[in-house]
Amino acid sequence: MNNCILKTEDLSVNYGRKQILHHINMEFEQNKITAVIGPSGCGKSTLLKALNRTVEEYGGKINGKIFLSDEDTDDIPFNRLRKSIGMVFQTPVVFPFSIYKNMTYAPIYYGEKNKAKLNEIVTANLIKSGLYNEVKDDLKMPASRLSGGQQQRLAIARCLTVNPKIILLDEPCSALDIRNTAHIEKMLRELKDEYTVIIVTHNLAQAKRIADFVIFMDEGKIVETGTPGDIFNKPGDLRTKEYIKYMTD
Ligand SMILES: Nc1ncnc2c1ncn2[C@@H]1O[C@H](COP(=O)(O)OP(=O)(O)OP(=O)(O)O)[C@@H](O)[C@H]1O
Ligand SMILES: [Mg+2]
Repeated sequence: MNNCILKTEDLSVNYGRKQILHHINMEFEQNKITAVIGPSGCGKSTLLKALNRTVEEYGGKINGKIFLSDEDTDDIPFNRLRKSIGMVFQTPVVFPFSIYKNMTYAPIYYGEKNKAKLNEIVTANLIKSGLYNEVKDDLKMPASRLSGGQQQRLAIARCLTVNPKIILLDEPCSALDIRNTAHIEKMLRELKDEYTVIIVTHNLAQAKRIADFVIFMDEGKIVETGTPGDIFNKPGDLRTKEYIKYMTD
């Protein structure tokens, strides 16, 4: 692949003696949206957590290799890896501070002190997340007062404040209504010009709408990958076919 930004080589993950992911070889293309689909418990979240190596914080053990732009992530300091690969969860995680402080928290942590620069980071990323007009007069308001959909957009905006290369999203819309989901899908389509997006979703229609590539996983393995057209219209594997049928019937 010409434009591969993230690659796994024979990636396996264990929790204790239980093997969750089995020998995953996968390349993720830069500035594309890759959707990961598959039955509950098949290891989608574990795969995302392995890709930024936070799975080790949850007690998982990684075997095999993960490369970020050809650099072995074993050799990348954790702080830099965290900055390069952001993650957004199913339930929006906002810090118990103001909207402004949520947005400046990570840049300050990484050493940004200039107030004008911080203001610029806040504004630019709130604009990217489509939240700016809704919150620009209330930046001092506790973030917890935002609606669920706004909190999720804030979580994405906050993830962008450290200029990640890759954004991992684990079912970011499953707690949201159609309108907020549409907001986030629009945002993700815009963000891919600058970032690479990997999104786990149970919503196959969503994968069809936004993904450039789809990965179907089952029992800790990648069953098949392809464009949404390939995966949804002419799946090559019976397991993919059955899953799609089950999810769309
Ligand atoms: N911290 C953990 N310790 C032990 N086992 C875990 C841990 N986290 C996940 N697992 C196990 O790993 C397997 C895969 O879980 P994972 O959360 O990756 O699945 P998933 O595909 O994201 O499922 P869902 O669609 O329900 O979110 C499951 O059997 C789960 O019980
Ligand atoms: Mg999951």
